[in-house]
Amino acid sequence: MTPRNVLAILALTGALAACSAKKPGEPQATPRAPTSGVGERIYSGNCVPCHQQSGVGIPGVYPSLAGSPVVLGDPTELALWVIKGQRPLSMPVGRYPTQMLQFGWMKPADAAALFSYLRSNFGNSALPVDAAAVAKALGQ
Ligand code: HEC
Repeated sequence: MTPRNVLAILALTGALAACSAKKPGEPQATPRAPTSGVGERIYSGNCVPCHQQSGVGIPGVYPSLAGSPVVLGDPTELALWVIKGQRPLSMPVGRYPTQMLQFGWMKPADAAALFSYLRSNFGNSALPVDAAAVAKALGQ
């Protein structure tokens, strides 16, 4: 085998390894902790059309959830906004020409999984939110 062939094989092996690396949003072959999957699934099914898979939104159209003070801040405000459409003070009216849907159907346990997902992805790093905190925020 010539050194050139060896190089080609090495390059190919590297490419194959890169291809098999898991990307976020791809179906997971190995099961993960049940709660971590729930938040990601709710996000993919409900929020991605506007906030995008990467969480960065669309500039001038939909806000980024990466580094968002609402995502990282008080879980009560986050819950009231997403579930009831109650606007936090940190979100002045008129920033965006578009509107967000309300997710009034979301149960506290699902919302908690979703919020925990938002707070630990897209480069965000904040403590997880539990179902009791969401229920309390909603006065339930
Ligand atoms: C139809 C598009 C749309 C969908 C779907 C949507 N959003 Fe939004 N979202 C928006 C818009 C528009 C705003 C800005 C609203 C405003 O400032 O009045 C926003 C704002 C937010 C904010 C505040 C961000 C910030 O810092 O300003 C959070 C948090 C958020 N959305 C979470 C979610 C979650 C979680 C979901 C899924 C359950 C979701 N959104 C689904 C359009 C959407």
